[in-house]
Amino acid sequence: MKEEKLRELLNSLSMTEKIGQLIQVPGNMLNAEGQELGVRDELGIGEELLKNVGSTLNVVGADQVRRVQEEYLKRSSAKIPLLFMADIIYGFRTVYPIPLALGCSFEPELLHRLCAATAQESVAGGAQVTFSPMGDLVRDARWGRCLESNGEDPYMNAEYVKACVEGFQEGLSEEGAGKGIASCVKHFAAYGAPEGGRDYNTVDMSERRLRQDYLPSYRAGVEAGCEMIMTSFNTVDGIPSTGNRWLMRDVLRKEWGFEGVVITDYAAIAELIAHGVAKDKKEAAYLAMEAGVDIDMCTGCYAGSLEELIKEGRLSEEQLDEAVWRILRLKNKLGLFEDPFRGADAAAEQEVFLKKEFRALAKEAAVKCSVLLENKENLLPLSSGTQTGAEKSAECMDGTAGKADKIALIGPFADRKDALGMWAIHGDRSAVVTIRQAFSETPGLDFAWTEGCEALLPEDYADLPALVERGERSYWSGEKREKEWNRAMALADGADVAVLAIGEDTVQGGEGGSRTKLTIPGDQMKLLREVRKRVSKVVVVLFAGRPLVLDEVKELADAVLLVWYPGTEGGTAIRDMLFGRCEPQGRLSMSLPRSVGQLPLYYNSFSTGRPYDGKTPNRFFSRYTDCPNTPLYPYGYGLSYHSASYGQTQLDSRTMKGQESITVWADVTNTGSRDGVETAQLYLQDVTGSVVRPVKELKAVKKVFLKAGETKRVSFVITEEMLRFYGKDMQYRAEPGLFRAGIFPDSSGKPETEFELI
Ligand code: BGC
Ligand code: BGC
Repeated sequence: MKEEKLRELLNSLSMTEKIGQLIQVPGNMLNAEGQELGVRDELGIGEELLKNVGSTLNVVGADQVRRVQEEYLKRSSAKIPLLFMADIIYGFRTVYPIPLALGCSFEPELLHRLCAATAQESVAGGAQVTFSPMGDLVRDARWGRCLESNGEDPYMNAEYVKACVEGFQEGLSEEGAGKGIASCVKHFAAYGAPEGGRDYNTVDMSERRLRQDYLPSYRAGVEAGCEMIMTSFNTVDGIPSTGNRWLMRDVLRKEWGFEGVVITDYAAIAELIAHGVAKDKKEAAYLAMEAGVDIDMCTGCYAGSLEELIKEGRLSEEQLDEAVWRILRLKNKLGLFEDPFRGADAAAEQEVFLKKEFRALAKEAAVKCSVLLENKENLLPLSSGTQTGAEKSAECMDGTAGKADKIALIGPFADRKDALGMWAIHGDRSAVVTIRQAFSETPGLDFAWTEGCEALLPEDYADLPALVERGERSYWSGEKREKEWNRAMALADGADVAVLAIGEDTVQGGEGGSRTKLTIPGDQMKLLREVRKRVSKVVVVLFAGRPLVLDEVKELADAVLLVWYPGTEGGTAIRDMLFGRCEPQGRLSMSLPRSVGQLPLYYNSFSTGRPYDGKTPNRFFSRYTDCPNTPLYPYGYGLSYHSASYGQTQLDSRTMKGQESITVWADVTNTGSRDGVETAQLYLQDVTGSVVRPVKELKAVKKVFLKAGETKRVSFVITEEMLRFYGKDMQYRAEPGLFRAGIFPDSSGKPETEFELI
């Protein structure tokens, strides 16, 4: 529709029809599966308004979307198509590794590709907007939503968010193409920093830190052209985001020039009352509208109060029009006025869902996101005894053929199809390849398997009894417990190698999944201890949605492969990594702590006045007296099947003038006998600034393929822009002075090569 026509449409709307556009209702209020079509009033929204609500969430599936849209258009007086939004976070039917795992790829281009693939499935399935990516930076593993973050680094997170937005929205602006889905970057702002790691808890930090570390990822989303921004549940400087005028009007719209739609998080306007900044729904609606929120997700606040607030003159009709206009413009961009079903097509679903290419991409991603934490005496890769026709790509090489090991595959995650993480809500669980399945499909592999124990016990998860009552989990009988345990021990007794598939239960992470003990739950550690006594070679394949404390696992296992929640092709990828057909490539996107007491823990912490060298027996340093300061495994860390050495970091100039740039390089050698990929990371330190600066900051990354024995020069250009930060006067600029650079395989390196900005 031409913009002129769209204006005419806006002007023709009644107040009720306009307000309707600003309201989003849950899918089950429109038409839950198996329910009679129509709308139900659960939020106290009047009938006329209900017929004209602007959008809904998590109604997906071509047939379902078409039916709901058809029915809606029949009833609505304004006849403006309903907008279908959904949580399509890391895949739609094909599920990819969780975002925290994707952060370990250090390959934004991979995220671009898989978001574009996800968009294809989503379009066929009728989704038009996705509530993704989540740009929230994380530093505290107690928070369950670390799972949905790309990790602890501001630079990488911004790169990832940009890649996701561009991937989801690929083709979106091409007129009539019906390609791509609109991307909603969330949760604005700083939702990832709740005190104590407890979800929905207070966030309070300096504006400098907010701008320096937490805002860049959302901003990258805006700059990449995201169509929507979602507010967060938390406060920022005492004001809940959803009523925070400074955040939305000053920063987001004025400073960053965002012209898209702002939506709240689920029921967040009504939560302004619980936060204690609004006395009732009307005041809450006023605050949100004043702050610049366009869409009220799933409360009756806007529905019940906007008209009155406008009549009273506290809000203006122009304000309302402004919000409606943004929503209409998005609907128009998506082509809904021409085709309200926009690609929702049951035949197309058949064609694209879980398409071969997407499954291959899911496997590639799982390989690139799995982090090999330990590999004592190069236990991995194992020998499967067969040459299995491996792909001969850069990442995937033939495993060695040799005498087959007798393998005991043990653990609750050996055959679990639902180990996808909390947000794979539209994923096809039946399509998931488990480790057991992948092993079974491998000719010549000599293995037997059993679960051994349950993943979760009541002491690990307060609401387990409720889940059991709802039939979402079950307890084993005493008899089954004993039988499983004994079988596991028997298998271990007869095996050359034990592969233990253990980890965190999916219910422990994700939204509302805060924990204080970052342990592997249930009897799984006991299982590891007992198996260790019986088998000489123990490999742990670890499933998790957040960093766990792994000191004992590190001690006990010979090899530890952290696969997170690896997605649809997890089992295939794990098998191929274990047997050397592929090399695990992931590098940690979050530091793994030694103890919960270290949290929040992140590599780019500030310099203190009493930095500790880790050795001196003197308590008067910034240190713990019962635990090192360092993480168990640092950010950026990961082993490979090849080994590598990094030469000295060198510079082409010791001085950098104004806007000029200099080049920094190091020679990286594959010192192993296998080809492989190195993830070379450039860290910089600003030695003296007008405000305290981090001990180091990641500024650039290059993944380099190295043949066995090969050396390559890895170089980066350092620009003045890389040196900028918010100084004493809150201006974002580089300050002259001494800097240090270092190119390392992970964040534990200390930048030492000096240069000066003059
Ligand atoms: C979550 C969001 C999500 C929304 C809609 C909220 O509870 O915080 O991340 O997009 O629900 O499902
Ligand atoms: C302590 C102060 C003390 C000062 C002089 C410092 O190390 O932090 O509390 O007053 O020494 O003894």
